[in-house]
Amino acid sequence: TIERTFSIIKPDATNRNITGAVNAVIEKAGLRIVAQKRVLWSREQAEKFYEEHAQRSFYGELCDFMTSAPIVCQVLEGENAIAKYREVMGATDPAEAAEGTIRKLFALSKGENSVHGSDSPTSAQREIALNFSDSEIVG
Ligand code: CMP
Repeated sequence: TIERTFSIIKPDATNRNITGAVNAVIEKAGLRIVAQKRVLWSREQAEKFYEEHAQRSFYGELCDFMTSAPIVCQVLEGENAIAKYREVMGATDPAEAAEGTIRKLFALSKGENSVHGSDSPTSAQREIALNFSDSEIVG
């Protein structure tokens, strides 16, 4: 099935000017970038996006980081896009990420880990709707 997933290129990657290098890995994996915009999230947007993590010890740090610099929000489309992008990203902790994955190549730490990708169809739908209007997605 052709799916859509939500992706973020995080501040550690925009700061290092490697958004194109991340996109090259995404496209080489066969995922299509069908929406993309560079934005600076407000605190409210970050807190809402990550609300499921509100009780976690790293929630404050996570929201600080995600509002510290611009991010690139994307919708990726392709066969099994949700699971495929999680493979392409690699493990949350770059020390555990497989060779060739975005996080193995670029991530600095568990927090500064270069990219986000939706973890399920329900999350993908929610995360896309929070960040894009239908007319901004052109498949
Ligand atoms: P993401 O997929 O964007 O969604 C939740 C984020 O929490 C995750 O990526 C990590 O970057 C972040 N995260 C997970 N564990 C930690 C941690 N121990 N310290 C800081 N951030 C974390």
